[in-house]
Amino acid sequence: KTPHWEARADLVVIGSGVAGLTAALRAQELGLHVLVVTKAAVEDGNTRWAQGGVAVVLDGDRDRDDTVAKHAEDTFAAGAGLCDEDAVRSILAGGPSAVTELFANGAMFDRGMNGLSRTREGGHSAFRVIHAGGDATGAEVERALVTQVTDRRVPVLEHHIAVDALRTPAGEVAGVTVLDRRGVPGVVRASAVVLASGGFGQLYQATSNPDLATGDGLALALRAGASVADVEFVQFHPTVLYTPGARGRCPLVTEAVRGEGATLVDGAGVPVMAGVHPLGDLAPRDVVSAAITRRMSQAPGGVGDHVFLDATGVSGFATRFPTVYAACAELGLDPAVDAIPVTPAAHFACGGVVSTVHGRCTVRGLYAAGEVARTGLHGANRLASNSLLEGLVVGERAAEAVAADLAAGLLPDPSRGRMPQRTSAPVAERDALQRVMSRYAAIGRDADGLAAAGSVLDLSTKDSPLWTHRAVEDAALTVVAQALLAAAARRTESRGSHVRTDFPDRDEHRWQRSQLIRLSPSGQ
Ligand code: SIN
Repeated sequence: KTPHWEARADLVVIGSGVAGLTAALRAQELGLHVLVVTKAAVEDGNTRWAQGGVAVVLDGDRDRDDTVAKHAEDTFAAGAGLCDEDAVRSILAGGPSAVTELFANGAMFDRGMNGLSRTREGGHSAFRVIHAGGDATGAEVERALVTQVTDRRVPVLEHHIAVDALRTPAGEVAGVTVLDRRGVPGVVRASAVVLASGGFGQLYQATSNPDLATGDGLALALRAGASVADVEFVQFHPTVLYTPGARGRCPLVTEAVRGEGATLVDGAGVPVMAGVHPLGDLAPRDVVSAAITRRMSQAPGGVGDHVFLDATGVSGFATRFPTVYAACAELGLDPAVDAIPVTPAAHFACGGVVSTVHGRCTVRGLYAAGEVARTGLHGANRLASNSLLEGLVVGERAAEAVAADLAAGLLPDPSRGRMPQRTSAPVAERDALQRVMSRYAAIGRDADGLAAAGSVLDLSTKDSPLWTHRAVEDAALTVVAQALLAAAARRTESRGSHVRTDFPDRDEHRWQRSQLIRLSPSGQ
């Protein structure tokens, strides 16, 4: 459709979670004319649902016998041999200043007698996860950043969805096409685009993510010819609150509950994690989710769909975990006396748009930060609470990289950006897509299942014009599902969050590497 409106900026940021707002604030400080495009209300991103906290080793922590090097070792171990070690060291080393900046932006974190309170989560060898509001860390981070964005009058187009990149004849990204809140098409011309649009939990029927996690940024990057990697590594959180037949966003039960002493047991009260991993209930997330899945399949009839979290020994549960407590109360459960029914659910995309630790992608003019990006920090399985940290560190650096690249004359002239010629895109029916991905591409995949999922997806897919927000989201889910199924089928091993029942072992010889995926840019 012909655009009906046009906006201009030096930089357009897509998404308004921790990475996007951090990038926007920094860009404005650097004197850039920045515009944020976000498809819901500014505070509605995935960030506000994050519970556990921010994993960070602060300068004073050396006295507590914790170091960035130890945090890096834990990150490598969780990442199952696929982390980019330089990226890990660089991002974790950026933690202290990013957190200091977050505090300067007004975020209030929990404190005890000895300063900041710290908890532990799966895969961490030390208490280094700082948190806010007990288990409402993401909500506090988002509140602080939204307040700053409002106070500093950073322009935000709410309820606007980015569709495709504008590209110059040389293939650089020079802005985006957008549908406004009524679906009226427009363009935002800019020298640089920072994707900070989050992940794609909505590929699955049950997820900890809100409805808006539909992979739009990843799809935009793929269609713009950027490289993506590690999309087969979808992290399933071990514990969302179980309700029979749950669909859509399921309330998270933060790993910090286990960090404070709760244990996983099956219906007969037998511990799930005994003998599975030296860290027991605090093993890395992929190990715990896979162990729960195995235990559920061993239930009588093999149809178990949940286990239990026994948190009766956690003192002051209601105060320490108010969000989880409230979700349990809605089901009539009191964690002080009742075991909490839990099950794994899709939680985090470990892969994404290939980018450096400064957010630069493989296509000039395009940058990425946060869950949409694949910097190499997470490898095959993200270490708990490394994601808010990555959003803070890389969000800020991406803005700095844009400013530096603009000053060096490396970025395109926005007036040269062209709309894609394509008038439609493959769109699968969302229920069918979520059903097959949940059945065949969750924890425990095999060649036959992945092929079956591909066939069902093909059958339910038809070409549709991207004229509505829903069509843009469904097209994104479709292309991400196709990429994921292809990558998962090719990776003939089990590693981290990619569990193949027909290839149960890790294959260090062939597969200690990431798979790069690149589509030829569509219809430009
Ligand atoms: C949690 O609180 O368990 C989730 C934190 C994370 O995903 O890093």
